[in-house]
Amino acid sequence: MLVDSRARKFSYLRLSLTEACNFSCRYCLPEGYAPRDPGLPSELSLAEVRNLLLGFESAGFSKVRFTGGEPTLRKDLTEIIAFAASLPGFKYRALTTNGWNLRREAPAYRLAGLQGLNVSVDSLDADRFRKLTGRDRLNEILDGIDQALGLGFDSIKLNAVLHREHARDELDLFLNYVKTRPVTVRFIELMKTGKGGAYREAHYLSSGEMRLELLRQGWRPVERPDSGGPALELSHPEFQGRIGLIAPHAEGFCSSCNRLRVSSTGALRLCLFGDGNHDLREFFQSPEKARGLPERLANLLQLKAPSHRLLEGDTGNLGGFSEIGG
Ligand code: 5AD
Ligand code: SF4
Repeated sequence: MLVDSRARKFSYLRLSLTEACNFSCRYCLPEGYAPRDPGLPSELSLAEVRNLLLGFESAGFSKVRFTGGEPTLRKDLTEIIAFAASLPGFKYRALTTNGWNLRREAPAYRLAGLQGLNVSVDSLDADRFRKLTGRDRLNEILDGIDQALGLGFDSIKLNAVLHREHARDELDLFLNYVKTRPVTVRFIELMKTGKGGAYREAHYLSSGEMRLELLRQGWRPVERPDSGGPALELSHPEFQGRIGLIAPHAEGFCSSCNRLRVSSTGALRLCLFGDGNHDLREFFQSPEKARGLPERLANLLQLKAPSHRLLEGDTGNLGGFSEIGG
């Protein structure tokens, strides 16, 4: 397995399959997605994605999450999931989606071997949802999630970006939601990106107050294994679901980092908030070329910084999350 100079082990690949998105979340793509300049590199083809997965499997990766943009806009997503599921190395396959088409597509994804589903739902209030995402689609998305609950996924999570002005209200709505549903709702602190600085200033709320409120209401932190990811998770005996809090600015956030990100054009991103994009596309041109990937990754990992520099105000060169899927 790949290990960096801080003894962090890397086994989790987050692969963006497209930069395109059909939503216009206010903090991410407020003007909506503008098609790429045709002169820029194209998205990885299905064949390239397959070779990429082979290469990461041989580097010891055991978990893959497909992200975007909106990954379900790729017509070949079901094939991609099925290919990942055919590789013995990738024991866990997950997807992060805005959920717009879940009702129709989730059964096929599940059948192809998808185990984890993360759906971005920033608000449980239909009007607020429409304002935040540009799409009047909350009820369809919630129906899709309820249907997915019957499909046997190992894990279903909802992601909600914390907004100062709605946090209290949304907490009540989401608590009611997880009372009867075995899902984890994770509140994510708004992170600063190149394009989103002013928005963050206006709407940011630290998750600290929410944590105190949850503790007051009898929620308790859950012990989780090392590989459990960056969220603090809480449970409550009277609720089927859990609440998670993701605080990237908190101390120690980076010390358990186990993930590498690859963009939809095949560039490695060592840290979400770093500067480096390292083109790996040459390794995805054939299964033989993919065999060279582990060595290249091992070398590039030496460049991985011990931590992001958000506290120093340095957000790296990430324009917005639609570039790499969070
Ligand atoms: N800060 C925090 N979360 C963000 N996301 C997108 N942009 C930001 C940001 N600036 C979230 C989305 C989605 C996930 C992929 O990343 O809401 O849930
Ligand atoms: Fe699209 Fe996700 Fe960005 Fe919203 S947060 S605009 S769903 S990529």
